[in-house]
Amino acid sequence: MSVRVALGVTGAIACYKVCALTRLMVREGWEVRVAATPRALDFVGEITWRTLSQHAVETDAFAPREDWRPRHIELAAWCDLFVVAPCSANTLAKLAHGLADNLLTQAALACERPLVVAPAMNAAMWANAATQANAEALKARGARLLDPEAGELACGVRGTGRLPEPEVLMAALRRIAGETAR
Ligand SMILES: Cc1cc2nc3c(=O)[nH]c(=O)nc-3n(C[C@H](O)[C@H](O)[C@H](O)COP(=O)(O)O)c2cc1C
Repeated sequence: MSVRVALGVTGAIACYKVCALTRLMVREGWEVRVAATPRALDFVGEITWRTLSQHAVETDAFAPREDWRPRHIELAAWCDLFVVAPCSANTLAKLAHGLADNLLTQAALACERPLVVAPAMNAAMWANAATQANAEALKARGARLLDPEAGELACGVRGTGRLPEPEVLMAALRRIAGETAR
């Protein structure tokens, strides 16, 4: 089964794991188009996302373009699954509240296909009542949350907040893609 994935990436250290996830999806025969927040590109550059996904990377909804269609609307209509991984606390909050201040959040809001969110952050950020409420709000609206795991975090502390390994994410995405196929 070929799946079209809009992959939203955000400013979290776990972007490096999502590089491997992108490879797994492409190897599976899925089509992947990356929508990166500006901060995500501080962690992994545009050229890496472009090469791994084998597609142009979407970052700026306002950049000049030959196609007349707004990028965020076109991406939202194109995909079968909208996956945000890693999802920062900041972008999780925006998704929970319907903010649309960058290409990723605009496309997510415009998307009528299933939303899959894989949060990754420092343990205290994840445990914060604000973040927990945002995660619950998204779940209540039908988003699938791939919960962060416990263990050693890149920021130097132990706790819950780390992104699951790429193979674990891939298995979850395969299952969700099967359940939600059109
Ligand atoms: C070194 C470093 C690592 C960070 N790692 C994370 C992270 O893993 N998760 C997170 O939610 N925020 C993390 N942040 C903070 C986000 O980058 C920051 O909130 C940013 O505004 C997120 O923007 P975005 O959601 O638009 O990508 C980190 C910041 C720095 C400087």
